[in-house]
Amino acid sequence: MTVVSQSTAGDIPSATRAVTLRGVVKSFRSARGTIDALSDVELSVNRGEFVEVRGHSGAGKSTLLALVGGLAQPSRGEVFVFGEPIHQWSAARRAAFRRDHVGFVFQLFHLLPYLNVCENVLLAATAVTPASRQRALALLEELGLSDRLTHRPAQLSAGERQRVALARALLNDPRLLLADEPTGNLDAENAAIVMGRLERFQAEGGTVLLVTHDDRAAQAGRRVIRLVKGRVVEADPGASVASESVERETD
Ligand SMILES: Nc1ncnc2c1ncn2[C@@H]1O[C@H](COP(=O)(O)OP(=O)(O)OP(=O)(O)O)[C@@H](O)[C@H]1O
Ligand SMILES: [Mg+2]
Repeated sequence: MTVVSQSTAGDIPSATRAVTLRGVVKSFRSARGTIDALSDVELSVNRGEFVEVRGHSGAGKSTLLALVGGLAQPSRGEVFVFGEPIHQWSAARRAAFRRDHVGFVFQLFHLLPYLNVCENVLLAATAVTPASRQRALALLEELGLSDRLTHRPAQLSAGERQRVALARALLNDPRLLLADEPTGNLDAENAAIVMGRLERFQAEGGTVLLVTHDDRAAQAGRRVIRLVKGRVVEADPGASVASESVERETD
């Protein structure tokens, strides 16, 4: 059985690593006490890797993505993205870094209802210039949405909304794409469009962290990271059956 807890090598996370987490803990306080959504997470993702993050509901997948994207800070530990210690940064500096280097696709799209399709994509732009508008239109065309530019989210299907959210995540030409169950609500055709675009992003040199509930064996070349109650259990590609048994034992 090939299931190991991964630890990072060396002291300084190289910029050839896209993501390095060291000793990361994320705790939340609630009425019932403190819960650790993530416990002692050690993780590294190389540039150009496509990593699937799997685990049961509540295992800490979205929390992990939020920390990597600088949306939240760890309670303890270190988070490096492209070698930068983002856990030491202010929210404003993390937001600027995110805008320049990271694309986020959320399960629930997070489109603004009063903006149309094109405006929602351009929301990611630092400034709406002819170049950013051209890129937005090119992405929307590539994702099959050219005839939906002036529709508002309420006038779109779930698959169309998710494609708008993906166009927005790609607008600034990020190096790292964080996708939280981007195909969760989609039919097979739309899921294939979204996954195809993520694969193209990787083929062009990008790094992908994809949260998925999909329990099929991972595709060749993809690494699966399994979270069990906030802890990382890593499976080699194709070893998802082995990691399932670990999950049952520890659950
Ligand atoms: N802001 C918060 N305040 C309190 N508890 C939180 C908060 N965010 C997450 N949690 C808790 O942390 C744990 C991990 O949550 P997280 O959203 O990361 O899980 P998940 O693996 O993404 O689950 P799902 O598959 O259902 O999306 C859960 O027990 C959740 O209730
Ligand atoms: Mg989640």
